Amino acid sequence: MPVTPQQLIQRKQQGRSIVVLTAWDYAIGQILDQAGVEIILVGDSLAMVALGYETTLPVTLDEMLHHAKAVRRGVKNALLVVDLPFLSYQESPQQALQSAGRMLKEAGAQAVKLEGGYPAIAETVSRLVQAGIPVMGHVGLTPQSVRQLGFKQQGKSPASGERILAEAIALEQAGAFAIVIEHVPSDLALQITQKLTIPTIGIGAGVHCDGQVLVTSDLLGLSTWKPPFAKSYLNLHDLIIKAVQNFSEEVRSHQFPEP
Ligand code: KIV
Repeated sequence: MPVTPQQLIQRKQQGRSIVVLTAWDYAIGQILDQAGVEIILVGDSLAMVALGYETTLPVTLDEMLHHAKAVRRGVKNALLVVDLPFLSYQESPQQALQSAGRMLKEAGAQAVKLEGGYPAIAETVSRLVQAGIPVMGHVGLTPQSVRQLGFKQQGKSPASGERILAEAIALEQAGAFAIVIEHVPSDLALQITQKLTIPTIGIGAGVHCDGQVLVTSDLLGLSTWKPPFAKSYLNLHDLIIKAVQNFSEEVRSHQFPEP
């Protein structure tokens, strides 16, 4: 049975952790779905891990749609959430509605994620939710603001912690069904998680969130760079090199193909 935003809120109430991973194409989407994760996120991190950019800023709405459509074809059960890329929603709630609408209509997304908090973004979230579009928020380190924030931990000072907490509350009040909390101190993530009734999904935010997200190429050991808080469960980079070397050897020594 496909996962719904309402089920995720119930999971928080039941104390059952939520697993979220990113996907950028059909094969990865299908594998994650078969492995039984609750949410598959077509994150704009694909700008870095699949397209080779240094930040998430260059990826366009059309490129995100292209990847989201491919992932959609592989996903049957997980909730499919797609990131709205930089400058596809910040201009106005109307612009956000157009962009999010395309994700649902053209790519079959079941929800969108956007970065930042109140007041302008919360107003935008409210507009999308009124139009029937489920929204996931994203606070703390928001990579689309990398030129202002860098890739540094956020919420370390009391003022910055209070601002992030206020943003999370504003997003919940605007109707978001879940919030990603990225790279903040664990006690701040705990405070936000306890304050909200919607689930918090942590990345580099400690153990207290209602769920955890990783960029799948970090988990698989495919990325050439990963943040210090990410964990690799496999070294796929080296396994692929080994497989390619084995193939090359067999071709050069005429062992493959067999007669
Ligand atoms: O783009 C992305 O992959 C994300 C996750 C890190 C949450 O936003």
